Amino acid sequence: TAAEIETLRSTHIAEYPDFPTPGVLFRDITPLLRDANALRRIIRYWTTLLPEGIEYIVGTEARGFVLGAPLAYELGAGFIPVRKAGKLPGRPAGLKYELEYGSAEIQIPENSLPAGARTLVLDDLLATGGTAAATVELTRRFDVELLGASFLIELEGLGGRDLLPDVPLTTVWSIP
Ligand code: PRP
Ligand code: ADE
Repeated sequence: TAAEIETLRSTHIAEYPDFPTPGVLFRDITPLLRDANALRRIIRYWTTLLPEGIEYIVGTEARGFVLGAPLAYELGAGFIPVRKAGKLPGRPAGLKYELEYGSAEIQIPENSLPAGARTLVLDDLLATGGTAAATVELTRRFDVELLGASFLIELEGLGGRDLLPDVPLTTVWSIP
């Protein structure tokens, strides 16, 4: 039930003050990942929140891989890994961006998505939105039908949604 899912947040997401930089309250999903029953319940519940007809999930390294791949498997969709720069062969398209605790560059594999593909962008956590906005921009270069973006956790206070004004968002847990 929704109440049980809400309880899982307090029992399975750990909080670490001042990691990785001072002032950041880091939300750690590893307690959720190591509990087989909780992991399965979250993945199954999450699929009920997602738009219909997803053909591809685009997940962002690294935690977007861990959650995106089982969701894609469950939905019968393909999975596209957006990686930190320097990891992908060929001619990946790339973008530099800012996140809550620094800056980085991500890349999407060449020939990732057919034009018109019904696509969902996915990550574990929406903070300032820099990572998600960059992933959306790279995804859109393939002229896909972007069905939305979805996150396990949204940190509402950091305003990440404002960087994704035209993208339908779904979140399992929104934290004020
Ligand atoms: C974290 C998280 C999101 C991003 C959110 O990734 O998994 O991808 O930060 O922050 P933002 O909304 O402020 O952009 P991180 O870059 O730490 O990489 P990881 O998944 O490899 O740990
Ligand atoms: N990525 C960006 N901000 C984060 C936070 N506060 N906790 C975990 N991952 C994050």
